[in-house]
Parts: sequence; structure tokens; C-alpha cells
Amino acid sequence: IIELIHLASLVHDDILDEAERRRGLPTLNARWGNGLSVLLGDSLFAHALELSTRFESANISRAIARATRDVCTGEIIQTQRRFDLQMAIEEYFRVIELKTATLFAVAAELGATLNDAPRAQVEALKEFGRRLGSAYQIYDDCIDVSGREQLAGKTLGSDLRKGKMTLPMLRLLRNAPSIEKERLSQLILEGDSAAIAALLASGGALAFNESIDAGLECARMGKADVTTLPPTRAREALIAFADGIAAMLDSLRRRGA
Ligand code: FPP
Ligand code: MG
Repeated sequence: IIELIHLASLVHDDILDEAERRRGLPTLNARWGNGLSVLLGDSLFAHALELSTRFESANISRAIARATRDVCTGEIIQTQRRFDLQMAIEEYFRVIELKTATLFAVAAELGATLNDAPRAQVEALKEFGRRLGSAYQIYDDCIDVSGREQLAGKTLGSDLRKGKMTLPMLRLLRNAPSIEKERLSQLILEGDSAAIAALLASGGALAFNESIDAGLECARMGKADVTTLPPTRAREALIAFADGIAAMLDSLRRRGA
């Protein structure tokens, strides 16, 4: 159910971002146009909700509907704040928590709930999902400005083109001396993704590494949440998942900062 909602959200996201590739294939909007893609995203979401009503407790579909509402809220705030050079870093964290971490959190929470885990474990897992979701989105935002499309299998650079104020950009803006800040602001407003990526590559190592550190901190906190659970193979798998995301982030670290 969560995966279907995730897919629906990506179908709509690719329309908003005008993305052409996802998972190594043309996006639905590239292939069928925006109109059909909106409807397909809606259908995937409706199907997921229908499946969620098959559980005995209405709490399951309630949690899923609320999480989806939060995902949409995150996207709405992000869209409203496009090209906002004054956006606070705390707001960025709020957006990624809503648009990405919520789905990780509800997946982890409901897995525990459906297995009748004690309340404290449900909360620990929910928090784990929330932290790991934020860590993953920070990784995703870093590769949008620095990754290779061939490797990522999806369209990159769209955050810069669309004026999404992601962490590497916000850090770069904060660190830039005033004369550079002016030029950078101009490039952001023009959506000149190539020039901004070049700036990040040349003088932006610090901003980039600060973003990676923030992601690593989220992964570390998530890992701490699950270490409170009983030692089982499942817990080891969750720890390995957190370590995996941390390793992905670390692999992006730049020298010279
Ligand atoms: C990826 O962001 C997108 C999201 C995390 C959420 C998108 C949600 C919506 C568009 C709301 C619609 C929701 C439903 C359920 C129909 P990204 O662009 O940073 O990631 P990307 O690099 O993978 O494109
Ligand atoms: Mg996108």
C-alpha cells in the first residue's frame, strides 16, 4: 500500500518537475503526457486507499490517509517557496520531513502496529522511519546537483531548474561572501542549473559536505532509535539499512573542504 502511494506521488512529482526519466525508463508524463499521468497517479492512490480499508481497524487507512495528506502538504510548501532565497534551513527540514520522511515513518509505524508491538516500539520505529526518510531526501537533494543521470536512472538538475531550495543550495547561499551571493542569487532566479552546479563543484565543497553531515546525523539518530529495540535479525536489518544510507551519503563527500 505504501509503495503504491509512493509510486503515485512520484508520478505526480515527475509532472511537476517536468522530469523525463525515472528508474532508467521514460516517465509517464514523457510518454503519455501530463493529463493521463495525473489520472494514473490518482488511480494508484485510490487503489492504495481501497486496499487499506481491508484491514479490520480503520486506524490503518486513517494513518495512511493522514500520511498522504502530509506528503501533499510538503509538496505544497515546497512549491510555494520556490525561488525563495530567504528560506530558512529549518523550513527545508520541515518540507523534507513532510514530503518524504512521513511515508518512511508510517511504513515503519504500521509494520509495528500490525504486529501488535508495544507502544514504545511503535514510536521508536516511527521515529526511525522519520529520521531515515530525512537522511534519504538529503542524499537525493545532493545527487540532484552533483550526480550522473546515467547512474541515478532519473532526470537530475530539476531542483535547480525549478527553484527548489534544497540543503546544498541553502548552505551555499549562507556561506557565500556577499559579492558571490548576488551572482548566485541571480543564477538561482534564472534557474541556470548548469552554472549553479559548476559553482557548487568549484567553491561549494563546504556547503556540500555540511549537507552530507546533516544527512549523516539524521541516519545516526535513526540508528539510535532502533538500538532501543530487542536484539533480533529484524533490528539488524534496520541498522544495516541506516548504515547503507549513511554510506551512500558518505560516498558523495568532497575533498578540499
Ligand atoms: C520526490 O521529490 C517527491 C516526493 C517525495 C513527494 C511528491 C508528492 C506529490 C507530488 C503529491 C502527490 C501525492 C499523491 C499521493 C498523489 P524529488 O523531486 O525531490 O525527488 P526525485 O529526485 O526522485 O524526483
Ligand atoms: Mg522530482
